[in-house]
Amino acid sequence: MRLGIIGTGRIGSTLARILVAADHEVVLANSRGPRSIGPLLAELGPAASAAHPAEAADRSELLVLMVPFDGVRGLLPPGAVRDSVIVDATNAFSGPGAPRELDGRGSSELVAEWYPGARIVKSLNTMHFETLAVAGTEPGREGSQRLAHFVAGDDGKAKEIVAGVVTDLGFAPVDTGPLHSGGILQQPGGPLFNRSLTEAQALAWISH
Ligand SMILES: NC(=O)c1ccc[n+]([C@@H]2O[C@H](COP(=O)([O-])OP(=O)(O)OC[C@H]3O[C@@H](n4cnc5c(N)ncnc54)[C@H](OP(=O)(O)O)[C@@H]3O)[C@@H](O)[C@H]2O)c1
Repeated sequence: MRLGIIGTGRIGSTLARILVAADHEVVLANSRGPRSIGPLLAELGPAASAAHPAEAADRSELLVLMVPFDGVRGLLPPGAVRDSVIVDATNAFSGPGAPRELDGRGSSELVAEWYPGARIVKSLNTMHFETLAVAGTEPGREGSQRLAHFVAGDDGKAKEIVAGVVTDLGFAPVDTGPLHSGGILQQPGGPLFNRSLTEAQALAWISH
């Protein structure tokens, strides 16, 4: 699959590396423009290319947002991603480590409002990039010992697509439900944020 990643910082570059290692293609974008991505492209080889954000959205089958939450609104022309599957991996903070007060809303619900028609899935937002880099291919992490990536959204087919990519990366997709309730579980301040759970632990937690 060809995935677009907007944001090539700590988490975006990590995701690009493990996607390419798992035989996917990536189109990368950031705020400084394609030339600034040259060193990362050199490292990743021919499966990676660079673009501006709207072009990355246009060229990819699945788009992943890995920019600061405050950069999401206005990042793309809303019409350009109507019907697109978008993974929102961003987290809304009000200060270092402090969850943003959103009046009971999920941050990904706001993203869905900003991009009407886009099929938003909240995923890949709870795991620290250093864990993401290695945990999918760590020895001993097979079957239910794989670490979970949570998946929340209102479009079942979109969630399936994201779950397939999570599986390709060596992790276990665990469905937390709709974008509102599942997203709130996953976002900063929620009980699943920044928790490393195996698939078995995550499923036990979800069903308790
Ligand atoms: N760090 C983690 O372990 C982790 C884990 C899960 C989720 N997240 C979430 O992922 C997001 C990124 O975190 P990070 O730690 O990777 O941050 P980071 O290292 O600061 O990287 C941020 C990236 O976003 C790009 N960016 C910022 N504003 C942009 C805009 N308007 N248009 C295009 N690109 C823009 C930056 O571009 P330039 O490179 O050009 O500056 C940079 O590549 C945050 O929402 C964070 O909460 C982080």
